[in-house]
Amino acid sequence: MNELEEILHKYHQKALLEKMETFSEKEKEQLLKQLKKCNILTFSKKIKKNFFHNAKPLTKVHVENFEEACIGRKAIEKQLVGVVILAGGQGSRLGHFGPKGTFVLDKIQKSLFQILFEKIYRIETFLNVKIPVAIMVSKENEIETKKYLKENQYFHLSEEFVQFFTQKESPFVSENGVWILESNESFSLGSTGNGAFYKDFIDSKAFEFFKKMGVSSVSIVPVDNPLADPLNPFFIGHHIHFKNDVTVQCIEQKDSKSLAGVLACKSEKVGIIEYLDLDPSMQQEKYAYLNCGIYVFSIDFIQRAAKYDLPIHKAKKKTTSFGKKIYAYKLEMFIFDAFEKAEKSSAFLTLKEKSFAPIKNLEGIDSAETAQKAIIKALNDAYPFPENFWIRYLY
Ligand code: UD1
Repeated sequence: MNELEEILHKYHQKALLEKMETFSEKEKEQLLKQLKKCNILTFSKKIKKNFFHNAKPLTKVHVENFEEACIGRKAIEKQLVGVVILAGGQGSRLGHFGPKGTFVLDKIQKSLFQILFEKIYRIETFLNVKIPVAIMVSKENEIETKKYLKENQYFHLSEEFVQFFTQKESPFVSENGVWILESNESFSLGSTGNGAFYKDFIDSKAFEFFKKMGVSSVSIVPVDNPLADPLNPFFIGHHIHFKNDVTVQCIEQKDSKSLAGVLACKSEKVGIIEYLDLDPSMQQEKYAYLNCGIYVFSIDFIQRAAKYDLPIHKAKKKTTSFGKKIYAYKLEMFIFDAFEKAEKSSAFLTLKEKSFAPIKNLEGIDSAETAQKAIIKALNDAYPFPENFWIRYLY
């Protein structure tokens, strides 16, 4: 049995094995080459559920505390904190053809990357420190993202402190779990969700760099929330003070119409139940807090979580097979499905108007328009940008 056949056997792709009998050796070689670069996810009927799927609503959250903020500031100053920007997504839902981070907010005339990078730069200048930053990109947007940031000189950050790592892909599958071919020499591949972060980060040069710099806490921000603060000393300080593995930033549910995961609690661990997984009987409104998608992780936790096989979620999406658009399943992992592996975790409550303006849709709720309004409102309120707010508050 050759290597390709072995892989197909291992992943129960009998139907494909038969189909490939007519393929040339060169085509098969190309297919094998592709598979070797993948992180092949499998979806079976016996779905491994998220540990928190039936967990009770979380009731205990923490709020800003001055002493913790001082701890956070010190850790940032000592270069013990690194930032990871989750930027594997494309902007297609916003009508933007390119990496989501390159989407420009027209009223502000800045891209999502620029907004986040400038926030980091302001803290660097203020504290006279260089922050290790890693960007998670996908195969689809890797080249464009790197080119865009280089052309814009990393918006003042030092090139050597901005690292990239690329999340692996997995084949799309049919209803019966058969991998979809795009052509005789390529599979139809999709990114593996933001849960890819753990393994793909650990295996990357970016992780080596973080270790070399002595980073012990990693602040994780999504690229699509321009109000996210990558270096919030209150949040980071809380994480360090409590010696947490995982700290989750949340807002009150009553303040938001967003499609967001809810915070739950099981065995004294904080976890997320994704909005898609909440069945009506679970009464979303009982869950008082929503997940902002902003976290702080300890380096130890990231290493532990990378060894754990996360549950797989499937989402029906359009893909191409032999020149035709078809619907198939994209298999994904969610970053918070590893939270059960945290030895200590807690939730940190923030105000929606200060830190949560996700851009998910072209129009309406959570769109560029609502985010821009939120930024402009934040500018006019007491806290221009969160980091300016804490600079004034702390010094
Ligand atoms: C996410 C959270 C949800 C939270 C909400 C807040 C997940 C799975 N869900 O939902 O609980 O309440 O944000 O707005 O995280 N990404 C990658 N690679 C991928 C997929 C996503 O880097 O393969 C990045 C996206 O670019 C984005 C972030 O991860 O920055 C969030 O992922 P997305 O899939 O957009 O999740 P949401 O539905 O927004």
